[in-house]
Amino acid sequence: MVAAILNIRVRFIFFLSLCLFVIAVFLYGALNRLSIDVDNTTSTHNTPKHFQDIEVQRHKKYTISPEEKFLAYFSHSGYHNQRIALENALLLAKLLNRTLLLPPAMLGRPLPWLAFDTMYRRLFVTTKTGIEYCKDISENYPLPAECLDYFSYTIVSWDFLVDMDPINKWHRIMDRPEHSYEWLEKNLNINQNNDIYFVKDTSRLDYRIYDTPNSTIPYSKYLRKMEISDLLAIDKKVIHFGSLFGSFRVVPEFPTNLEYATFIRKHLIPTNSLIQNAANRIINKLGGSKNFIGLHIRVSDGFFMKFARPNIDNIYHQIIDTFTNLSPQEVDILEGGTHDSDILVDDTVDLGDPISRDFSTAAESYQKNIDLNILKEVKCRKPFHPTDKGVNTIIYIATDAESPRTNPLLFKFFNTFPCVFVLDDFDQELAEMKSARNVEDKTPLANYLIPMLDAMISSKGFRFYGTPKSTFSNYIEKTLHPLYTGKELLIELV
Ligand SMILES: *[C@@H]1O[C@H](CO)[C@@H](O)[C@H](O)[C@H]1NC(C)=O
Ligand SMILES: *[C@@H]1O[C@H](CO)[C@@H](O)[C@H](O)[C@H]1NC(C)=O
Ligand SMILES: *[C@@H]1O[C@H](CO)[C@@H](O)[C@H](O)[C@H]1NC(C)=O
Repeated sequence: MVAAILNIRVRFIFFLSLCLFVIAVFLYGALNRLSIDVDNTTSTHNTPKHFQDIEVQRHKKYTISPEEKFLAYFSHSGYHNQRIALENALLLAKLLNRTLLLPPAMLGRPLPWLAFDTMYRRLFVTTKTGIEYCKDISENYPLPAECLDYFSYTIVSWDFLVDMDPINKWHRIMDRPEHSYEWLEKNLNINQNNDIYFVKDTSRLDYRIYDTPNSTIPYSKYLRKMEISDLLAIDKKVIHFGSLFGSFRVVPEFPTNLEYATFIRKHLIPTNSLIQNAANRIINKLGGSKNFIGLHIRVSDGFFMKFARPNIDNIYHQIIDTFTNLSPQEVDILEGGTHDSDILVDDTVDLGDPISRDFSTAAESYQKNIDLNILKEVKCRKPFHPTDKGVNTIIYIATDAESPRTNPLLFKFFNTFPCVFVLDDFDQELAEMKSARNVEDKTPLANYLIPMLDAMISSKGFRFYGTPKSTFSNYIEKTLHPLYTGKELLIELV
C-alpha cells in the first residue's frame, strides 16, 4: 500500500519534471527568437541597409626635394575649429615658405585642446589602425568593447569636403595621414631629435603670430607674441606647432598677406558633391536661391540653451518688423501670447559667468516680393496670408533643435509664417546623403555632413539671420552668405 502511494508520488514528480522541462525548452526557444528580434532592431552599426560606399581619402605620391622645408601642426576640436586652424596653418606655411603637412579632417568625437605633449599622445591613440575588423562585424553580433567608438567618428581628406586644387596650386601641401613622429621620420627622411624645431603650446591660446614688427593689433586673448621674422630664422627641416586654432591667430597686416588670408577663406568652403547636390535639390523646393530668408538658430549647449528663447524671439521680431505689416495684437496672438515669458533667459541653465547680451535690432527695412509663380511651386504647409505678402515670405531654418516642427521653441515661426521649412522636411532630397558611407571604415557620413548642408542652405537666401555669439552663425554671415550671394568678404582682424 505504502509502496503503491510512493510509486504514484514518484510518477507524479517525474511527470511534473517532464512538464517543467518541456516548458523550459519552449521558453528558451521563444526567448532566443525574441533576442534575435531585439538584435535586429537595435543594432546601430550597418543600418540602413543600402549603403553607397564613398571614396573619402586622397592617396597622392610625393617626391621631396632636398632643400624642401616643412610646417607641421596638430588638428583638434570640431570641424569648424579645424577649418579655422587650417586657415592659420596655410597662411603661416605661405609666410614661412614651408610645405604644409596637412592632417586629415576628423569628423565626430572632437578631441579637445590639450597641451602639446598630451595632445600628441591623445592623437596617437585616436586611430582606427589595428581594429579594422570592427567594420566587418555582422549586425547580428554585439560590438566588442574596442569597437564601441569605431562608428562614432570618421576621418576624411580635406579634398573630400573642400576643393583644395586652387590652394594646392597656390602653395605646396603634403598630406600627413597620421600624427606620429615616426611617420615624419620615414616620409621626410629626417631624425626626430635633430631635424624638428618644436613650438610647444602650454595653454589654449598661447601665442599670436605677427607679420609686422611693432604691430598695434593687441594679442589680447593670447598670452604672448611671436614674430614671423623670428620663425623665418629657424633653419630646421620641420617646424612643429601644436594647436593653431583661434580666429586670425596669424595676423595678416601686410596687404599681400591680407590678400592671402582672403584667398584662403574664400576657398575653404564646402564643395563636397553630396552636400552640394542635396543643397541644390532642397533650394529648388524653396523656390531657388535668394528667394527665401535663411536662419541659423542654435539652441543646444549651455550658453545657447540659456538664451534660446530671447534669441529666437529677437530673430522672430526682426523678421516681423522687416517683412510684415502685422499689428502687435496680431503678432501677440500668433506667438501664442508668450512674448513676455519668451524674452526671459532660462535661469535653470547655470553658466557661472554672466555674458552680456547683444541684441541689436538695427534691421534695415527691406522688402522682397517673392514672385507669385515661385510661391505656387513651393509646397507651403499652411494657407497663405490673404493680404500681407510679407507673411508669406519663404523661410528656411537651419537649427540643432530637436524635432523643430513640434519644438515649442520654434512654435511662433511655424504658427505665423505658412512657408517655413527645416531640413527634416526634405527626406527624399536627403536620401543620397543618408546612404553615404566612408568606404574605408564603413562609417555613415550623413551626421557629419548635415550641419554643413544646413549651413549652406541657410546661407543661400537673400537675407541671413544668425544666433548672437555663435561662431558658426558668424561664419555663415561673414563668409558663406556673402560668397554665395556675390558680395565681398569682410575680413576683420581684431
Ligand atoms: C534578423 O536578421 C537576419 C540577418 O539579417 C535575418 O536573417 C533574420 O531573418 C532577421 N530576423 C528577423 C526576426 O527579422
Ligand atoms: C622657398 O622654398 C623653396 C624650397 O622648397 C626654395 O626653392 C625657394 O627658393 C624658396 N623661396 C623663397 C622666396 O625663399
Ligand atoms: C619696435 O620696437 C622695438 C622695441 O620693442 C624698438 O627697438 C624698435 O625701434 C621699434 N621699431 C619700430 C619700427 O618702431
